[in-house]
Amino acid sequence: MADKQATLNIKGQEPFELPIMEGTVGPDVIDVRTLGSKGFFTFDPGFLATASCESQITYIDGDAGILLHRGYPIDQLANNADYLEVCYILLYGETPTSSQYNEFKTIVARHTMVHEQIASFFHGFRRDAHPMAVMCGVVGALAAFYHDSLDVNNDKHREIAAFRLLSKMPTLAAMCYKYSIGQPFIYPRNDLTYAENFLHMMFANPCEEYEVNPVVARAMDKIFTLHADHEQNASTSTVRLAGSSGANPFACIAAGIASLWGPAHGGANEACLRMLEEIGSVDNIEEYVARAKDKEDPFRLMGFGHRVYKNYDPRATVMRDACHDVLKELNIEDPLLDVAMELERIALSDEYFVEKKLYPNVDFYSGIILKAIGIPASMFTVIFAISRTIGWIAHWNEMHSDPTNRIGRPRQLYTGAPQREFKALHERE
Ligand code: SDX
Repeated sequence: MADKQATLNIKGQEPFELPIMEGTVGPDVIDVRTLGSKGFFTFDPGFLATASCESQITYIDGDAGILLHRGYPIDQLANNADYLEVCYILLYGETPTSSQYNEFKTIVARHTMVHEQIASFFHGFRRDAHPMAVMCGVVGALAAFYHDSLDVNNDKHREIAAFRLLSKMPTLAAMCYKYSIGQPFIYPRNDLTYAENFLHMMFANPCEEYEVNPVVARAMDKIFTLHADHEQNASTSTVRLAGSSGANPFACIAAGIASLWGPAHGGANEACLRMLEEIGSVDNIEEYVARAKDKEDPFRLMGFGHRVYKNYDPRATVMRDACHDVLKELNIEDPLLDVAMELERIALSDEYFVEKKLYPNVDFYSGIILKAIGIPASMFTVIFAISRTIGWIAHWNEMHSDPTNRIGRPRQLYTGAPQREFKALHERE
């Protein structure tokens, strides 16, 4: 018997006793799994008040603006660890020893190449195809190359699939960019760090040596860390639901990429930069803030608001500092940063945004950094997908490691036509 219980009183029914489950931190949950057998469903479109699973990977306190990965605060990880160490922590739950970490980095480095046949997949796309469309295709197609690691009930298969996905996402992403500009693909290099390798594959060419700027590489690595995981967000929930049917990991990650692409989710970084470009000058901010508040106008301030954070997104704070570092290092005066800073100042003092607790989120500053690095806006969400792959895989793996795991199959409130007799066409005329 659970220590705490909720009693549900429904007219004409015996009271239902529903167990209340407690987590390590955060809200308790009411276990409603038995309601179905009593002829009732809960109704929660958008899952505003629904815990879809139990997890030990990431915790967010939206009111306090806290984000923990396996208990470690995001700012401490972003400022004191590199992305691959965060990947290790997300995947295995604890910090690695130096030998464990070196082995992890070596395995990742040794899986960064893709099968040569993958290159021909790119040549089927137009050069101006959106790279997220290409990523959905080529990541899903990886399943066609790795028949040896598709048994989702085999933890060794799940681990090798995790390494292949973590290692190959930057390679495939850089291939998307190179293909779009008509330059040859650049092979990964095992002597570079994860972020250095990605930047080298993006910007090197066969005609001359390319030196990666260490400040830019550090900022890129931080961007990867800041986007690594975020509880049961839309794309992670997509990966879990796809995975619950037993679908292979490559198909599940492709589904996650598709969900992340939406402008309300991972597509917001690209949409935010385009919004800043459309605003163009601090003189126009008032007009756009007014539009964002107008219920009749579908315009929203991209990079603001969050389903969970009703305080500053802790990632945005780290991102803003990294943004200043990169612009200073590259000696860039970007008027869009001035627009962003003034937009942030105005929005945070505007009663509409204060009342609705709309703060800058992770996507607000990332676009400015990525633009300063020379990455086109169409690639912004691809970079988010590279980073989030470890989060998707960690949740997919956690789900399959749970012996009580079963296929996700929500019910509904049906408000359509009651049963009625069908008349064939000739009877109806
Ligand atoms: C990410 O879930 C995650 O964890 C996501 C993410 C992750 O790491 O995985 O954190 C990454 O997706 C960050 C969010 C990126 N999206 C954007 O920046 C797009 C702009 N933001 C909005 O679309 C919106 O804030 C959402 C989608 C992020 C959250 O939507 P909710 O929780 O459904 O909130 P809502 O749309 O119901 O908004 C509540 C109110 C509404 O007004 P009312 O109907 O109550 O009068 O706030 C208003 C909204 O109109 N509002 C905004 C606004 N965001 C919400 N008004 C103006 N501009 C905005 N950006």
